[in-house]
Amino acid sequence: MKNNSHYFYLNGDIVPEAQAQLHVSDLGLLRGYGIFDFFRAVDGRPIFMEDHLDRFEHSARKLFLDIPVTRQQLREAILTLIEHNAEPLLGLKMILTGGYSPDGFAPTTPNLFIIAKPFQFASAQGLKLLLVEHLREMSDVKTLNYLQPIWQIPAMRQAGCQDVLYHHEGRLSELSRSNLFLVKNETIITPNTDILFGVTRKHTLALARQHFQVEERPVALDELWTADEVFTTGSTKRIIPITEVNGQAFTSSKVISHLQALFLSHEQQS
Ligand SMILES: Cc1ncc(COP(=O)(O)O)c(C=O)c1O
Repeated sequence: MKNNSHYFYLNGDIVPEAQAQLHVSDLGLLRGYGIFDFFRAVDGRPIFMEDHLDRFEHSARKLFLDIPVTRQQLREAILTLIEHNAEPLLGLKMILTGGYSPDGFAPTTPNLFIIAKPFQFASAQGLKLLLVEHLREMSDVKTLNYLQPIWQIPAMRQAGCQDVLYHHEGRLSELSRSNLFLVKNETIITPNTDILFGVTRKHTLALARQHFQVEERPVALDELWTADEVFTTGSTKRIIPITEVNGQAFTSSKVISHLQALFLSHEQQS
């Protein structure tokens, strides 16, 4: 890292952060049409990169956007970017937009860029959540559209909450940027409908299956209130407890602590 600045990837080039600029006619900016994925690199080692590339390709396919490089070229760009940004903990955000659109509506050649920034985990103490009735559009796609939770920021602040928990037609789905898990009688339960299939969720489930009963299924909102433990998973969080939803406290964290330890050692060996 030189002069405290970072290097980004932009359409085939590694450029200093200040030069990573797009034109205002980009469809990601004008219409929010685009996808992204985010992962960490720890001491120069990307964490679960192949899973994130799989999901990035899935998201691109669903939005009919062509990734302008091969998977191997993208992999190499990421590794080069990590070398250029010597940080113990680096966040990498790959973004693919609808491109420069002359009519401001129809997609053209996508713009592909990767932002690399030092990363810090949010506090692992636990999250307080605000229930919000909402169904994410194309929930299995990591689109650029986070209108709902950003719009909810004043309501969250007023309620002393750090995030929202979505439900729709009596079913729970996920938080704004992470997946939801309940623990009931040492069984681990997680929704499998109307969610983004998180990479952390996938690895947590694989570990959990070795030690606990696991149920991946639609989860009723009512099940929340009788859960023994509640937690969330995401690349920016790993596994963290949910301590409160709409004022109801969840204090136990026995299973959560076990899973946190399993996950940390799995991540270090991955
Ligand atoms: C809506 C949503 N759900 C879940 C997740 C968690 O996914 P991952 O574990 O791959 O970070 C994210 C990540 O940003 C998200 O945006």
